[in-house]
Parts: sequence; C-alpha cells; structure tokens
Amino acid sequence: MSDVITDPLLSISHLNAGYGRSQVLFDLSLAIPATGAVAILGRNGAGKTTLLKTLAGEITPMSGTIKLAGADVTGAAAEQRARAGIGHVPQEHAIFAKMTVRENLLLGGGGSPEKAAIDEMLDFFPKLGARLGQTAATLSGGERKMLAISRALLGRPKVLMLDEPTEGVWIGVIEEIADRLSELARRMSVILVEQHVELALRVAKTAYVMDRGAIALHGPADQVRDDPALLRYLAP
Ligand SMILES: Nc1ncnc2c1ncn2[C@@H]1O[C@H](COP(=O)(O)OP(=O)(O)OP(=O)(O)O)[C@@H](O)[C@H]1O
Ligand SMILES: [Mg+2]
Repeated sequence: MSDVITDPLLSISHLNAGYGRSQVLFDLSLAIPATGAVAILGRNGAGKTTLLKTLAGEITPMSGTIKLAGADVTGAAAEQRARAGIGHVPQEHAIFAKMTVRENLLLGGGGSPEKAAIDEMLDFFPKLGARLGQTAATLSGGERKMLAISRALLGRPKVLMLDEPTEGVWIGVIEEIADRLSELARRMSVILVEQHVELALRVAKTAYVMDRGAIALHGPADQVRDDPALLRYLAP
C-alpha cells in the first residue's frame, strides 16, 4: 500500500511522545498533503488525541520531527504553530461555554477576526447565525462542534486538525458536518480523527489506523476500508 505524497504540507517523522515518562506514541511517521482529508482511526486509547496534541504543540515529543511546509516546528510553542498554520479543534474544551456564540467567534483564530471572516463562518454554518446571543453552553452538540470548527477556521489555518467532530452530535446533523468537512478538504488540508469509520473513510482520501500508539495500517481510504485487518484494529 504505497501512496507517495510529494512535498507534504505536514511531515511527521519517527515521532515518539507521551505524558511524563509514560510513552503513548511510538515511531509515528505520517505525510499530510496540502489539500484533502487524512483520516486517523483507532480504538479508544490508541493515541489519536495524543497525536493531535503533539502536532498542536501541547505535548513536547520525546523524539522525532514535525515539519510544516518544510520548516521544523518540533520545538515550537503552540501559539507559534497556530500562527504558522496548524489549526486544532480539540476533543474537549474547544469553546468557552459561558460566553455567547458571538464572543466565542470574536475570540476565534487568535482573536479579533474581521467581520467579513465571521460572516463567512455564518454562511458556512447557517445554524450559528440564529444563536449569536446565546451562551455556548446552551447549544446543541452539533452547534457546539460547528462553533469550535468556526473558531479554528478564523485563524486561517493551512491544516485543520479535528478531534472527533461528530462526537455527541445528533445523527441528523452529522451529515451536515461531514459535508462541510468534505468542502473544506477540497481547498485545504484536513486531519480527521473519527470514531465514525464509514464517515471518515468517505470524507478522507487516505487513512492511518493506529494501534497502541503505532501506525498499524495506512493507505488510500478505499484500500483501508477493504482491508480485512481493519476490524481487528478497531475492535475493542
Ligand atoms: N494526560 C494524560 N496523562 C497520562 N496518560 C494519558 C493522558 N491522556 C491520555 N493518556 C493515555 O494515553 C493513551 C492514549 O490516549 P488518547 O486520548 O490519545 O487516545 P484516543 O485514541 O484519543 O482515545 P479516544 O478514542 O478514547 O479519544 C491512553 O492510554 C490514555 O490513558
Ligand atoms: Mg481521543
């Protein structure tokens, strides 16, 4: 299963990382292209969130390198990486629950986005427009995810990393989010961590399957979908 990506936007090489002395990620190498979505799959505890946190700069790797558009960002602080184009929609605490939707947007993407940029987000996720004065805590699961994605997009990232964007979202709204992600993937780089395997492999062109902190399977989404080993790696 080879899919050679020439000149990846994000190139991760032999990454080892964890929490304190407890190692969670083992020798991960991934190539993320400048457009299109890449799915990261794996059962609970496989290390998906830890990988995104390490790429975002919240966790300092033990070893390995992370390059963004050729520049080594392995040791760069989280804010520096965000400015360089790494957008992160974390699995938890992606929005300020006590603030209104409007305030959340005004603090999006590092702060003070232009009105036109916010309007663009409200066109992208029309459901948010009717909720501007509401506190984020009162939003539905789907609306929270839309707000979190909007906040990250306001930073105009080159790569948008999403950690479980359909978790806690009503089934009727999941497709809407999937459509928006497919739309984004046509013009930018998207890294999609998802429990909804079928959805992830539909949105993504390529996929990496993690097992106990290592890459167990990797290739074009269609091939990964049909690989008999996939279910084994995803089984609890
Ligand atoms: N703050 C932490 N300190 C110590 N260990 C942690 C911490 N956060 C996560 N871990 C451990 O790291 C491993 C990977 O966790 P991680 O959250 O990255 O998995 P995941 O693939 O995102 O799982 P899920 O699908 O449940 O979100 C787990 O064994 C977890 O217990
Ligand atoms: Mg996780």
